[in-house]
Amino acid sequence: MRAAFREKESGEVDPAEKIEFVPADYFARAPMRDIFEREAPLQVDIGCGEGGFLEAMAVKHPGHNFLGIERLLGRVRKVCRGVVHNKIPNVRVLRIETAYALRYVLPLESVAVAHVLFPDPWPKRHHQPRRLIQDGFMEALHGILADGGELRIKTDDEPYFLWMEKVLAKAKGYERLDWPDDPEYPITDFERRFLAQGLPIYRARLRKV
Ligand SMILES: C[S@@+](CC[C@H](N)C(=O)[O-])C[C@H]1O[C@@H](n2cnc3c(N)ncnc32)[C@H](O)[C@@H]1O
Repeated sequence: MRAAFREKESGEVDPAEKIEFVPADYFARAPMRDIFEREAPLQVDIGCGEGGFLEAMAVKHPGHNFLGIERLLGRVRKVCRGVVHNKIPNVRVLRIETAYALRYVLPLESVAVAHVLFPDPWPKRHHQPRRLIQDGFMEALHGILADGGELRIKTDDEPYFLWMEKVLAKAKGYERLDWPDDPEYPITDFERRFLAQGLPIYRARLRKV
């Protein structure tokens, strides 16, 4: 699985490689201490892309641990290099399909906040089953959220947001929270582009009950 980094000629391990969390066992949930050496509340950025939001959050909240989940190799590499370059101690990245991570890899009841920011909208009807926010996602997420853990979602895509609203309304074990304007919540890389195009941003915040 670990193929993100080339070994240096000296045989030395690229420090960026240490940022990637590669589970020892893909068929058992990882103990938290395998992901982060220190104990701290965990926030996950699901579909973290190139990691701009992840890094900004980690710098703002040094007392929390941050795990990015991303399936694209190039983006995972970029996050790892950025984290090393900026010397951010509280970030790791897991290269995996989110559904699998939630169901089989992440520790149960471990996540204080899950961020799902600008997930791919899959606008064509026959692609909609690929959308991340689905009944099964909400169910699996419930298992890994800690008591009172939160889900925060943002999208620029109105049809997808309407779809999400239906999924969120019937998800069991959550309550909806207000999410007033929060200038401390970093803008993501994709959000910056959407804002520059003048697109509206839709958002939802829920808490596990
Ligand atoms: C539109 S981008 C948004 C990236 C970032 N959150 C932002 O706002 O800048 C969506 C990201 O989610 C990743 N992604 C999509 N589906 C995924 C999945 N099922 N598991 C892991 N990553 C996924 C994509 O590779 C992509 O990097």
